[in-house]
Amino acid sequence: MARDRIGFGVIGCGVIADLMYFPHLQQRYRDCQLELVAVCDAVEEKAVRALRVYGAGRYYTSYRELLEDPDVDAVIVATNIASHGEIALAAARAGKHLLVQKPIAESLEDADRIVEAARASCVKLQVEPAHMLNPLCVRARQAIDSGALGKVCMVQALSAHGGAEDRPWLFQRSGGGSVMMDMAVHAITWLVSLVGPVERVTSFARTSVPVRVINGQPLEVDIDDNVVVLLEFRSGALGTVVSNYVTIANQAPGYSVYGTDGTLHIQSPQAPFTIFSRKAEYLGEQGWLTPTFFGGHRYQPVRAPIPYDSRVMHPYYSLAHFADCLIDDTEPVPSGAVARHVLEIMIRASESARTGQAQGLGTGFEMAPAAS
Ligand SMILES: NC(=O)c1ccc[n+]([C@@H]2O[C@H](COP(=O)([O-])OP(=O)(O)OC[C@H]3O[C@@H](n4cnc5c(N)ncnc54)[C@H](O)[C@@H]3O)[C@@H](O)[C@H]2O)c1
Repeated sequence: MARDRIGFGVIGCGVIADLMYFPHLQQRYRDCQLELVAVCDAVEEKAVRALRVYGAGRYYTSYRELLEDPDVDAVIVATNIASHGEIALAAARAGKHLLVQKPIAESLEDADRIVEAARASCVKLQVEPAHMLNPLCVRARQAIDSGALGKVCMVQALSAHGGAEDRPWLFQRSGGGSVMMDMAVHAITWLVSLVGPVERVTSFARTSVPVRVINGQPLEVDIDDNVVVLLEFRSGALGTVVSNYVTIANQAPGYSVYGTDGTLHIQSPQAPFTIFSRKAEYLGEQGWLTPTFFGGHRYQPVRAPIPYDSRVMHPYYSLAHFADCLIDDTEPVPSGAVARHVLEIMIRASESARTGQAQGLGTGFEMAPAAS
């Protein structure tokens, strides 16, 4: 049955909710009203602010009360990492559809419980980051699947910045801070989105900047803020992930794929990518090409970055995909299974950094064909 209304509850009214979710609620999408029924934040003034700015129906300071609200069909979990597991599990058990910020949880046991609870309650479960939906990722997958790069032998990803200076929890284990879970998650998700599941990992990790100035105050950092992860993919490709909070400026490509017949560089999730193939029959032309964001290639610039602050909802936004899945009763592509695999990669990589031993993985996921 087609839905003409989805009632949303947003839990966690911080930076990412402001950027990715609130601006796209309280509007029609397709023939469906995306209604911001309720917001929740443990800090009351943040919940009240979101209520006022985005016109939510009501606010809560307890996520459990929000989950009891019968007008809420779907929840967005946008809290600090440490609480994702608990809140997502409670939401799935309460029968709410779920869009969860990354990572799905901090432990595989929690991730398993969430996936199982969502299945048992027959609710949709989608987990960020939704890089599989990014048109550049889709087109890169199409190029790989077409054979333009030959056999993919090596992939590299870089996900790094200098570290946010306004959220202390990012640098403290007790708040769920972790470069692996907050930053490497992007690089790892890109790589598994491009070449599929991983079989084995090894890693090095360091606290390179032990004291930082956060909100004007010195803060002792008790997380590793600098990690390198080596990956062996099920396909036989090898990969490297570099991720940290010590990169002040950077012009290196974010993601690279090296095959026996070509190379692909994705500069950033919102920037052009370039592809070199010596198989002219696949691309129509031999050499380096720059595809555009919306289709076609040649040396055209990508017109605009993803306009997060726009009220227009593009079909490649994770929230739009989530709404599509609810409206059409289809399964999210950035699924619980993918998130669980990415989580296991991060957990095993951290174990490897601690023990000095390479670690095998027990999870995986079915690689869906690249969207046409
Ligand atoms: N900020 C970014 O650039 C960014 C980008 C991508 C993903 N994320 C992810 O989004 C999530 C949130 O990050 P953020 O940067 O928005 O953090 P933030 O600190 O700005 O916001 C988190 C909010 O959650 C609230 N909160 C924490 N525990 C809660 C609980 N139990 N119940 C209700 N509210 C609770 C906090 O009070 C805070 O307002 C994290 O998982 C992070 O990894 C952030």
